[in-house]
Amino acid sequence: MALVGLDVGTSAVKGVAIDEDGRVLATATADYLLSRPQPGWSEQEPQDWWRAAEDVLARLPDGPVGLSGQMHGLVVLDGERRVLRPAILWNDQRTAAECAEIEERVGFARLVELTGNRALTGFTAPKLLWLRRHEPELYSRIRHVLLPKDYVRLRLTGELATDVADASGTLLFDVRRRAWSEEVCSALEIPLEWLPPAHESTEIAGAGDQAAAALGVGIARPGSVSVVLGTSGVVFAALSAYGHDPEARLHSFCHAVPGTWHAMGVMLSAAGSAAWLRGVLGAGLAELEVQAAQWPPGSDGLLFAPYLAGERTPHPDPDARGAFAGLSVRHDRGALWRAMLEGVAYGLRDSLELLNELGARAATGRVSGGGARSELWLRILASVLRLPLETTESEEGSAFGAALLAGVRAGVFSDADEAVARCVRPQRRIEPEWDYEHGYRRFRRLYPTLRPLEEP
Ligand code: XUL
Repeated sequence: MALVGLDVGTSAVKGVAIDEDGRVLATATADYLLSRPQPGWSEQEPQDWWRAAEDVLARLPDGPVGLSGQMHGLVVLDGERRVLRPAILWNDQRTAAECAEIEERVGFARLVELTGNRALTGFTAPKLLWLRRHEPELYSRIRHVLLPKDYVRLRLTGELATDVADASGTLLFDVRRRAWSEEVCSALEIPLEWLPPAHESTEIAGAGDQAAAALGVGIARPGSVSVVLGTSGVVFAALSAYGHDPEARLHSFCHAVPGTWHAMGVMLSAAGSAAWLRGVLGAGLAELEVQAAQWPPGSDGLLFAPYLAGERTPHPDPDARGAFAGLSVRHDRGALWRAMLEGVAYGLRDSLELLNELGARAATGRVSGGGARSELWLRILASVLRLPLETTESEEGSAFGAALLAGVRAGVFSDADEAVARCVRPQRRIEPEWDYEHGYRRFRRLYPTLRPLEEP
C-alpha cells in the first residue's frame, strides 16, 4: 500500500508517497504566494493551500494521507465554515502588544507552566487578540479556529480536528495534560468551542512540521536529537515526560508519539545566513566551501552573530541583528564563509545546552535540511555540538514523517516506533574532530555585547 504525506509549508505543499518499507515512490510539489500587506505582516489564502494540496494529491499514488504543516498560523471560519480572512502566519510580527497583554492576563510563570512557552508574536493566541482589537466586526463572526494543515484536512475529509503536537503551538493548549487549556482560554476570553477536538498525532495522522520532521528522521523517543539546517535552524529532543524551561527560552510541545513530549530551540537564520552571505559574496557554494576549508577552526578569531532576522532561541529578541566581529586585513571570502558556518553552529549549540539542562543528553544527532548537503558544515557542526551526526536516506522531511503517521493510523505499523524501525535508515555518520570550546566561549559573549547597539 502507498502511504502519502503532505506538508503544508510556507512556500508550497510538498507531497511524498512511500511504500511500507519507507522507499520513496513519488514526490510532488505545488507552490503558492505569501503576501506581506504591511511591514512585518505575513499572510496566505487557505484556499491556495487547498488548491495546491489537490494538485499534489492528483500527482501521487492513492493511499492513506497524513498531514504536516507550518505551525502557529491562524485560520478563522464562520458558522458555515467559510474562511473569514487570509490566514496570519507563524512569521508574522504584528502582535507585540497582544503578547504583552497575554503575559499580563495569565501571568508569565503560569503561562509557561501551562503551555510550555512564553507569548511569542508568531504563535496563534496573540493573533486572535489582535483580530479582536483591530477587526472587531470580523472577530464577532468567528465560530471555528484552525491551524493551516487542519484547514486542508477540513477540505479533504469534512472534519474539524487537530492533533496535540500542532495544538501545542497555539499558546491555548495545556501541554502537560495534552488538552485545550480552559484556564488560558478563560483568562484570554477565547471561547473553547471555537477550538477543534485535539487528537494524538497517530490517531489523526497529523502533526506540526517540526514534530513530523523529527519523526521522519527517526526521533520517536529520547536518545538522539534532530538538528535541522533549514532556512531556520532547529535542535529538537523528544522527552519521556513534560518538561519546560522556566524562562521559556526553549519551546516545549507534545510530540507526535503518544505519551512523549519534545523541547526545541529555534534559531531564525541558519541556512538563511548562508543564503544571505552567498548572495552578498556573489560566489558559488562549491568555491566558498573550498576556500573556507583552507581556514583553521575558529577562522583566526573571526566571529559571526547569526541574528539576521532577529532571534528566538536562546534570545527571544525580534530586534537582534547579525555581525562579524574580529575582522582583520588577513580575512578573505573563505574566512567570512567559515565564520558564518561556525556562527550558526554556535547558535545551535546554545539550544543544545538548554536541552541538556532539561535532561535531554543525546548521544547522536540526526541532521536534515538543505544545509546538511555541505560536508564542511556537518564537520563543523558535529565538532561544535560535540555530537556524532547522522544523515538519513530520505530527504523528504516533514512530509515523510506525515506519511509514517498515515501508516500508523491505517494499521500498516502498530505504532510510531515500528514505523521508524521499518522506514528510517541512517546513511552517513560524521564524528566530531575539532575543538571549538574556546570559540564557543567567545561566541557566548557576542550577543550581550551587541545588545546595547539595538537601542535607537
Ligand atoms: C515552529 C515554527 C516553524 C513553522 C514553519 O515553531 O515556527 O517551524 O512551523 O515551518
